Amino acid sequence: MNTYDEIPYPSLVYTDTHPSKLAALAMLFGLKPPVVASCRVLELGCGDGTNIIAIAQSLPQASLLGIDFSAQQIAKGQAMIEAIKLANLTLKQLDFNDVDASLGEFDYIIAHGVYSWVPEEMQDTVLEMIQRHLAPNGIAYISYNVYPGWYLENVVRDMMLYHTQQLPDHLPFSDLMRQAKGIVRFLANLRQEGNEAFDLLLQEKSLQLETLQDNYLDHDLLEKENHPVYFHQFIKQADQHGLAYVTDIEFRHYLMLSFPDDVVEAMAELFQEDFLKKEQYLDFFYNRTLRRSLLCHQDISIHREVDWEAILSCYLAAFLPADKTPANERDEESVQFKKADGELITVKQPLVQVALTCLTRLYPQWVSFESLFQYVCTQLPQPDQDLSILQEAFAQELLALYNREAIELQAESFPFVTRPSIYPIASPLARFLASQGEEPLINLRCEFIELSAIGRALLPHLNGKNSRQALLIILKKWLKKQKMKTEQPLRTLLDKTLLEIAQCALLVKT
Ligand SMILES: C[S@@+](CC[C@H](N)C(=O)[O-])C[C@H]1O[C@@H](n2cnc3c(N)ncnc32)[C@H](O)[C@@H]1O
Repeated sequence: MNTYDEIPYPSLVYTDTHPSKLAALAMLFGLKPPVVASCRVLELGCGDGTNIIAIAQSLPQASLLGIDFSAQQIAKGQAMIEAIKLANLTLKQLDFNDVDASLGEFDYIIAHGVYSWVPEEMQDTVLEMIQRHLAPNGIAYISYNVYPGWYLENVVRDMMLYHTQQLPDHLPFSDLMRQAKGIVRFLANLRQEGNEAFDLLLQEKSLQLETLQDNYLDHDLLEKENHPVYFHQFIKQADQHGLAYVTDIEFRHYLMLSFPDDVVEAMAELFQEDFLKKEQYLDFFYNRTLRRSLLCHQDISIHREVDWEAILSCYLAAFLPADKTPANERDEESVQFKKADGELITVKQPLVQVALTCLTRLYPQWVSFESLFQYVCTQLPQPDQDLSILQEAFAQELLALYNREAIELQAESFPFVTRPSIYPIASPLARFLASQGEEPLINLRCEFIELSAIGRALLPHLNGKNSRQALLIILKKWLKKQKMKTEQPLRTLLDKTLLEIAQCALLVKT
């Protein structure tokens, strides 16, 4: 039996795989990716299709296909597609070995968590499929486990694999996973006073393991097929299949490095302006375990420096509330903005301050660069400034903020509303998940989202047929059933909950 049929992979979404995000990233490196709204998307090894279902829902004019050889996972996804009446996506049970030309051509190909988890000879098949089925200007996204980081992961993986192989056959799955975690915890406890690298590794891994879902652990650290490679090996293999490396989803982390000048010089000596060598050295530096790379056909010209003009046609989003404390007592003009991870970003330029305040107010909506720039220009103290110079400076500042992972970019914007209408309609996928009692939900930005219990109860009823009055009755009944009392008037509670749902990007535009 297929191991993914026996123990399905968790249902996950990867917002970075959305074609609109892939297109924006590719544009920054000089590519001209296919139009996203009407694109053709293929996901290889899509599991139960949760990721591609979320993407399909956000792109009603696109046509999408997900393939996976696990019958059970595909059947689960097909049931979900039927329940939410999604017309633009097909999920097919298909082995990579059986893929032929009839599969067709795709503008975006996604292969998340596949390449490293198939037998080594199949890795060539994956790259070959990408090469054969990617449109001439298409973009492929592929994730893979890399060395040197996986050498450390393998210390713990080998320990758990050896230990579980010593146990009696047919042990219940949950016991097997408990034993796997247990051996690491046992050794970590024995060595908890130690200060050697190995002691620290055990402590860290033991803590990480406690948080892992069993089916994730089974298909991640304990998966029989797990073949990490060095970045340079992967690039060589991609090259043999006619594919070129564009960039990585995490390229911005690298830009955040701020080394002293002499270190930068020493590094430049190592890289010798060879960006691929630079990527490999940085993997050594970071002890990296995972890459999420963008590939394209080799005849496409790729800029190796970020092209600032690309941002002019992008859409932006950010949630960066201003921090009340002045950035610097001697510098009253600067304002600090707080990222979700708590990092404070000091912004000096008034126009950028206005832009961040505007984006934060409109979040989670996407705003075009063009309209953002027009808006900030209305706030100019001297309206007669040279707009093209101002636009370039503004674009460069926003790119710098993108590089600090303070703002998000995408190539095209896909609508949802952030204010509930009289007859609100929630996304069919979120309604379906909420009606199944699933948590977290998935929003129209293809992200996991946590919602209050009242929000989850109300969501399945937001089908465009229930007025506020009808929703009020539904809410009243639900509160009674839950034996829940509320201090505030019911109407206020309903309005607040609908706003919460809307602010979570769960309401479709009608
Ligand atoms: C680690 S899971 C990743 C699932 C999903 N892409 C994700 O990242 O959440 C690997 C997936 O690849 C599928 N797979 C592995 N070998 C395959 C093959 N030869 N043909 C088709 N699918 C395959 C498995 O069934 C499984 O769903």
